[in-house]
Amino acid sequence: MSQPALQVTNLAVSFATRRGDLAAVRGIEFHVMPGEVLGLVGESGSGKSITGLATMGLIDPPGRIVSGSVKVNGHELVGLSEAELRKKRGREISMIFQDPSTTLNPVLRVDTQMIEALRAHEPGLSTRAAREKCLAALAAVGIPSPEERLLGYPHQFSGGMRQRLAIAIALLNRPAVLIADEPTTALDVTIQSQVLGEVQQLAAETGTALVWITHDLSVVAGLADRIAVMYAGRIVETGTVTDILSDPRHPYTAGLIASVPSRNRRGARLAQIAGTTPSLVAMPTGCPFHPRCDHADAVCRAEVPPPRPVAGRTVACHHPLTAHATA
Ligand SMILES: Nc1ncnc2c1ncn2[C@@H]1O[C@H](COP(=O)(O)OP(=O)(O)OP(=O)(O)O)[C@@H](O)[C@H]1O
Ligand code: SF4
Ligand SMILES: [Mg+2]
Repeated sequence: MSQPALQVTNLAVSFATRRGDLAAVRGIEFHVMPGEVLGLVGESGSGKSITGLATMGLIDPPGRIVSGSVKVNGHELVGLSEAELRKKRGREISMIFQDPSTTLNPVLRVDTQMIEALRAHEPGLSTRAAREKCLAALAAVGIPSPEERLLGYPHQFSGGMRQRLAIAIALLNRPAVLIADEPTTALDVTIQSQVLGEVQQLAAETGTALVWITHDLSVVAGLADRIAVMYAGRIVETGTVTDILSDPRHPYTAGLIASVPSRNRRGARLAQIAGTTPSLVAMPTGCPFHPRCDHADAVCRAEVPPPRPVAGRTVACHHPLTAHATA
């Protein structure tokens, strides 16, 4: 088997506050192979963006990476200087931010932004050669009339097209890894899946490893190769899409799947997981899911379950479900 394009091991990020250090994410472990798509799924506040930002080396004070390793094509990123990281960003690892305005400058024409991104890594590139690359990149992400679009401004693009534009820019330098954080202005799930489908094809062709961050399991259900489910700052279950969707072993994953509307159950009431996600300042002892879990016992309340192999995937639970059980 070849080497993972991205390997994250035991990653933890904390924020310094007046009440002391708050762990936003911890024990984060996942890998993505070249050309593969990993769906990083979880509710709001579960730590998806922090995981993406930490992978990019973009955690600013009062936040910091407390421990862990992030390797791109085998090379460690944690501990590199800002100047060294800047050289890696765009060319080796690239991110599409949840807030599109972070990536796209509203006052610059699309061609100016794209040529700038190219020249950041290839200073001597001629304008003509750069324009050719930009046109190809826009066409590759399914933006119609690229010649015309290149002369426009980001606000002239619809939500879906703006996301495609951010992806085109992020992919310009053919990075080994692309992390796409779902835009805040929740796009239609159908558009999200469509964009992901196109980017997935592109990633497969270029060998880019893709991490697709979303709070909606149905966006990545049909398109990701593997899924990592986050809850309260931890990855609770990681496995192939088929394993996770058809046979979840973590009670939280099972609850999440039960709450996704399916064609078969149209009109039926969605099963909601009772209770709410814990906040960082009031994290329960032991398993963070125990206040909401039907299977919780004394061990669950006392000890954090470490991730371990269960039925071909990784599950962080003291009492993983058995095959086809329900939460
Ligand atoms: N600058 C910060 N200072 C303190 N806490 C923060 C900061 N940024 C994020 N957090 C906390 O870290 C946790 C994880 O946040 P994160 O943004 O990664 O969630 P998310 O899964 O991306 O949620 P969403 O789906 O809403 O984007 C949250 O509890 C959040 O409040
Ligand atoms: S460790 Fe216990 S509380 Fe946590 S998910 Fe598993 S069974 Fe439920
Ligand atoms: Mg987020």
